[in-house]
Amino acid sequence: MVGKPKVVLGVSGGIAAYKACELLRRLTESGHEVRVVPTAASLNFVGEATWAALSGNPASTEVWETVHEVPHVRIGQSADLVVVAPATADMLAKAAHGLADDLLTNTLLTARCPVVFAPAMHTEMWEHPATQENVATLRRRGAVVIEPAVGRLTGKDTGKGRLPDPEEIFEVCRGVLARGTAEPDLVGRHVVISAGGTREPLDPVRFLGNRSSGKQGYALARTAVARGARVTLVAADTALADPAGVDLVRVGTAVQLRAAVLEAARDADAVVMAAAVADFRPAEYASGKIKKKDGQEPAPVALVRNPDVLAEVSADRAREGQVVVGFAAETDDVLANGRAKLLRKGCDLLVVNEVGEAKTFGSEENEAVILSSDGAEVQVPHGPKEALAEVIWDQVVARLTPRRA
Ligand code: CTP
Repeated sequence: MVGKPKVVLGVSGGIAAYKACELLRRLTESGHEVRVVPTAASLNFVGEATWAALSGNPASTEVWETVHEVPHVRIGQSADLVVVAPATADMLAKAAHGLADDLLTNTLLTARCPVVFAPAMHTEMWEHPATQENVATLRRRGAVVIEPAVGRLTGKDTGKGRLPDPEEIFEVCRGVLARGTAEPDLVGRHVVISAGGTREPLDPVRFLGNRSSGKQGYALARTAVARGARVTLVAADTALADPAGVDLVRVGTAVQLRAAVLEAARDADAVVMAAAVADFRPAEYASGKIKKKDGQEPAPVALVRNPDVLAEVSADRAREGQVVVGFAAETDDVLANGRAKLLRKGCDLLVVNEVGEAKTFGSEENEAVILSSDGAEVQVPHGPKEALAEVIWDQVVARLTPRRA
């Protein structure tokens, strides 16, 4: 890539077009050269002047403007990434069928770079078989179509169909750009990731928790979306923003996490257990707050074992060829303990972190060794949690059984 990465931001005609202004800001401020190609319908929501001012480039809608520059071919050909946000049902249909009646649809046909669609529409339109088939077609051809978020829609209704937060769409774009022209190798795959730390309640105001930030699990979710996967993220406690394009299931306790993971794993190609699941929970839950009593020592807290979700998923594969990945945090004899844990849990891969005072918990970075049940060992040097996530997916992809054509 020579100079700044060139991004085409396609905007189609939905109310969420206003959120694309923030995406554009993020892209330009992080050193991307952005050309906005709005559809005529989208100009009802955000005008051409806004796009031109924010991008520093003209924003054309039709192929008939500046014809001598042959924009309908040139813009797509020279792009490093095309992102369409919001992508309406109509835009997905046009793209899936190769229609080319304006500058954006022409650009999509001439682009040879990665393409990301961020759909936004009402739930009924998203769930309609026509839209779902168009999305499947686009994904089969290698486009990254991110799942819409669940939440408030245009009117008073709520449901699936919201445009994810612009900064999260930006993260997907960053991930896709970083992969360059590498194929999105998780397209058509369903992956389940657990993340964060469980909370085991003692009474309505207290719980047993742990220091997991959820960052590694969220990095796994983001990178899997950028590689084209359908992602179910089972999130225990974390303060992180919802990643774009994932089906998010929020849980509290280990027992709830187990139920959510087993349910999602039924048709999953891979399950990655990055959550810090409490091994124990209070044996009894007090329905009222436990009060201190003058002159009395507090009663000891009895604990009982929680189910081991990783061991259960590994022993009882819901699907033939399902790849199961566990994590282990070790303080001493890291490799020997890791190997023993890999055997005990029965998973295919175990990502072993060495933990210490400033290491791993809450940090943006991580280093690990990935142990495999076939004896392989991959050292991942200290670096961003996204980099470790990419290596984990490389290892998963290498173990997935090829799909039947
Ligand atoms: N895990 C799980 N269910 C549990 C506990 C842990 O699925 N009840 C998963 C975690 O998500 C992680 C891996 O198991 O992938 C790490 O488990 P860890 O707590 O290190 O394993 P333990 O067997 O509890 O090891 P130790 O004996 O070191 O406590």
